[in-house]
Amino acid sequence: MTFRMDKLIVVFGEALDIVEGEMLGCSTHHGKRIAALCAAMGRKLGMDNDHLITLTSCALLHDNALTEYIRSEQGGPHDPAMKLHCEYGQRNIENLEFPAAIKDLILYHHERADGSGPYGKTDYPFEAEIIGIADEVDVNWHLQRRSAEDLPKIAEFIRESYRFFPETQALLLEVLDEDMLRSLRDGEIGRTAENLIPPWVMDSADPRLPDTTGFMGRVIDYKSVFTQIHSTGIVEKALAMADYYGYGVSERNQLCLAANLHDIGKLAVPTAILEKPGPLNREEFREIASHAQKTAELLEALDGHGLENVKTWASSHHEKLDGSGYPLGKKAADLEANSRLLACLDIYQAVSEERPYHPARNHSDTMAILREMAEHGAIDGGIAGDIDKALGNQP
Ligand SMILES: [Fe+2]
Ligand SMILES: [Fe+2]
Ligand SMILES: [Fe+2]
Ligand SMILES: [Fe+2]
Repeated sequence: MTFRMDKLIVVFGEALDIVEGEMLGCSTHHGKRIAALCAAMGRKLGMDNDHLITLTSCALLHDNALTEYIRSEQGGPHDPAMKLHCEYGQRNIENLEFPAAIKDLILYHHERADGSGPYGKTDYPFEAEIIGIADEVDVNWHLQRRSAEDLPKIAEFIRESYRFFPETQALLLEVLDEDMLRSLRDGEIGRTAENLIPPWVMDSADPRLPDTTGFMGRVIDYKSVFTQIHSTGIVEKALAMADYYGYGVSERNQLCLAANLHDIGKLAVPTAILEKPGPLNREEFREIASHAQKTAELLEALDGHGLENVKTWASSHHEKLDGSGYPLGKKAADLEANSRLLACLDIYQAVSEERPYHPARNHSDTMAILREMAEHGAIDGGIAGDIDKALGNQP
């Protein structure tokens, strides 16, 4: 079975845009807009599909380290050049094997022709500069709300205000015409990106998949200090359960992806609420619970691309067998085995982690809570028993 990796990266980029919007005031669909501009420039240069896939994927993921960067700045020295987000962003995706061998596009996305970038380099890959120039223009000009009469001012800005190589400036100017500008608006950008980004087809039974996509859970975890090991912990346990059940590689991989993405909606919940030190009021609780709905909305775009299971399992992780869960209040008949498993593992991980309102718990204390929930009909008792057997002997 195959699936569309490009669709997965577009969805992940969409969630990253929400973070960049919260932290830096970036526009909606910022990543998609940059990817579309990069694809248009790459096509103009006659790039083949493998290069276009690599370039647009890096464009979508260019600021994947923002949550981690802000976090590290809070605990360490200030980094005015924002060098670290380039370094972390590159490191996060080091296991993602792109079809073309262009390296360090995220590491050098803020380098400039005059050596004024964070690493002071002037011999960085041209593709990194393509991402950089598209990023700068969108950040400064909010291209989603520009019209033809803004084009001369934008062109002047590209020529005079940035320290990019003249060839890159000329390339962007050539691509950014009236039609292109119109196609970058919020209502159009989805279709534009779809037309310009070539399909990246992967085998869902590729054994490298857990490694190549593991960064997604890590990036989501960085959103809040309280959940720094949450998604990665669930991924680990989901893989152990897949092995316990003897799943084939494809099902194991899909479960792993669902575990990585289950809390992607948390990227859309303000950090101030996720990290509120005291008890939450009703409105704040509702806001946190809304992450499950946001996960479902973000993953909707995976439908029809070989990722339907991933969408369903990840979106159902707060549903309960008795209908008391959310966002849809699904009942037992609507919840198949892997949705139930992920729901159990989410609870297992959350109650065993240290949180401001409860200490870390060992396996038997965690299992006692799961057993009680199973007795009340909220979660699957058989699966909880399997988790006890499979995880009980782990260190
Ligand atoms: Fe950046
Ligand atoms: Fe950006
Ligand atoms: Fe959740
Ligand atoms: Fe979770």
